[in-house]
Amino acid sequence: MSRPSLGIIGAGNVGTALALLLSRAGYEVRAVFSRTESRAQRLVEAVGGQAVTSAAAVVEAADLILLTVPDDVVAAVALSLQDSEWSGKGAAHTAGALDAACLDVLAARGAMTGSFHPAFPFAGFETALAGLPRSVFAVEARTVELQRWLIGMAEALSGRWLAVPAGQKALYHCALVIASNYLVTLYALAERMLQSLGAEHEIVSQALNALVQATVDNLREQGIPQALTGPLTRADVGTVRAHLNALAAYDRDALMLYRLLAQVTVPLVAQRGLPTEWIDALIHQEE
Ligand SMILES: NC(=O)c1ccc[n+]([C@@H]2O[C@H](COP(=O)([O-])OP(=O)(O)OC[C@H]3O[C@@H](n4cnc5c(N)ncnc54)[C@H](OP(=O)(O)O)[C@@H]3O)[C@@H](O)[C@H]2O)c1
Repeated sequence: MSRPSLGIIGAGNVGTALALLLSRAGYEVRAVFSRTESRAQRLVEAVGGQAVTSAAAVVEAADLILLTVPDDVVAAVALSLQDSEWSGKGAAHTAGALDAACLDVLAARGAMTGSFHPAFPFAGFETALAGLPRSVFAVEARTVELQRWLIGMAEALSGRWLAVPAGQKALYHCALVIASNYLVTLYALAERMLQSLGAEHEIVSQALNALVQATVDNLREQGIPQALTGPLTRADVGTVRAHLNALAAYDRDALMLYRLLAQVTVPLVAQRGLPTEWIDALIHQEE
């Protein structure tokens, strides 16, 4: 299958990692444009191609243009490119919650439009380069040819792809935010609770990192619901009551969160064939 040449608009975390990895996988990166010229320059030094001074110059140079800019500027960048010659070219953004419709202005000019979202958290560059290959990419394409190009990129990165039905990108992205971003929130809350006991930061980190890593390993190896452990799976009513009392004295938001998470966990306990009536009764007591 022939590979499109690539153009990158936005040399940030995602644009840089994709350009580097795809160029290593044999793609030709022809042009890079970014708001800050030096960032585009640094990227082309690593991947080849030209650092250009306008987004329109990227469209002229490449077959497939990746708009790796912040979500809020995707539509504005697309609008600024409506006078370019798009026939036979593709445009895909990498925003998780936006669908291809935000590139309609380019579709009207003959572009094949879509989106290509790596389901991966870009927190650090080295982690991204190591982890992005083998991850999953949400692919949305309005033409068969663009779909082939985008699937080809996912496969060249040793990744897999999933198709998100039209209009469902927000739900798709929300699932990833719950699994990744809010895991960080939960970790931060647990860290604060342990530190409030006077524990050293290093010990707290070691305890939580071991716990989270083992939980992820259990999820990978045993899946749901077997990976669920803890008082809800043992029907330890006294323990859950003690948690509720401790949180009532510690932090009202943490108490609300605990109740809600316990409630959302009820179906998993039921899947294990364990009793659940007591959970509802206890978490709604004195609410
Ligand atoms: N971060 C993640 O974990 C992640 C994961 C998957 C998908 N995404 C999506 O990927 C996209 C990019 O995210 P990111 O994390 O890479 O953001 P980022 O690191 O902030 O990079 C965005 C880049 O776009 C450049 N830029 C901003 N406005 C521009 C404009 N008008 N024209 C040209 N370039 C412009 C920025 O400018 P400078 O040149 O001044 O730096 C920056 O280099 C977003 O849609 C995001 O939702 C992010």
